[in-house]
Amino acid sequence: MIHVVRYDSPQDWAEHVAARFAAFLADEPAARVALPTGATPEPVYAGIVEAVSAGIASFRRAHVFLLDEFGGVPPDAKGRCDVMLHRALLDHVDVTPSHYHRLDPEAEDVAAMCAAYDAELKQPLDLVMLGIGRNGHVGMNEPGTSPDSATRRVELAPSTTQASVRYFGEGAALPTWGITIGLSAILAARTIWLLANGEGKADIVRDVLLEPVSATRPASLLRGHPNCWFFVDAAAASKLPVGVLSRG
Ligand code: F6R
Repeated sequence: MIHVVRYDSPQDWAEHVAARFAAFLADEPAARVALPTGATPEPVYAGIVEAVSAGIASFRRAHVFLLDEFGGVPPDAKGRCDVMLHRALLDHVDVTPSHYHRLDPEAEDVAAMCAAYDAELKQPLDLVMLGIGRNGHVGMNEPGTSPDSATRRVELAPSTTQASVRYFGEGAALPTWGITIGLSAILAARTIWLLANGEGKADIVRDVLLEPVSATRPASLLRGHPNCWFFVDAAAASKLPVGVLSRG
C-alpha cells in the first residue's frame, strides 16, 4: 500500500520532505540511501543542505548510491546525474567520499560494473528516493521493465531523451541510454519515497495510483511495497480523489 501525502504549496512540499529526510538521517546516521537527480529533488536537496549545515543531520556515516546515470555524453556534462547530485547536494554536505557510490557508464565492462553495484545492494537499501517520469518510469526503468530487473544498461524512451534537454541544455548532445538501479533493488528497499511536484505530473500520479498495477507504468509496481510513500504537492495531486490521501 502506498501512503500519499499532499502539501499545499511547492515550498511546503520541499520543506517537509527535506525535514523528513533530515529526521530520517538523524535517526539512522549510517543509513544506505539511493538518491535521484533531475528537477524534482532540487528544492528538497536545498532544504537538506540547510539541515546539515545547521547540524540537524549528517551524511558522514551514511552511504549514498546514485540511482541512475546517463551514458554516451561527457562525464562532466551538466546534465549527468553524478554532476547534478554533486551540484545540488554532495558538494554542500559532509558525505564521506568513499561512501558515495556512482554508476560509471565509461567503465570498460559495464555489465561487470553493474553486477558489482548490485552486489553492494544485496544488503537492502534503507531508503530509496525517486522522482517519476511522465510515462511512469522510476530511475531509468522505462515502461515494460520487469519487477525483478537488476542494475543494468537501458535504452531510454524517446520521451526521456527529449525531456533530458532540461538538464543538458539546448543544442547539447542528448543521451539515448543510461544505467539504472533495477526495480528489484528498489522494491527490496526498506522504505521508498517517491517525490512529485507540478501539474505536469498530475496525470501520471493519478494513473499510477488508480489504474491497475502494470509494468507499462513501472511506478505502479511500488503499490505492492509495504512501506512506500508518495510526497506530492497540490498541483501533482490535483487529479486525485481526496480518499486516496493519507496523513503525513
Ligand atoms: C533521475 C531519475 C528519473 C527522474 C524522472 C523525473 O535520477 O531517476 O526517473 O526522477 O525522469 O525527472 P524530473 O524530476 O526532472 O521531472
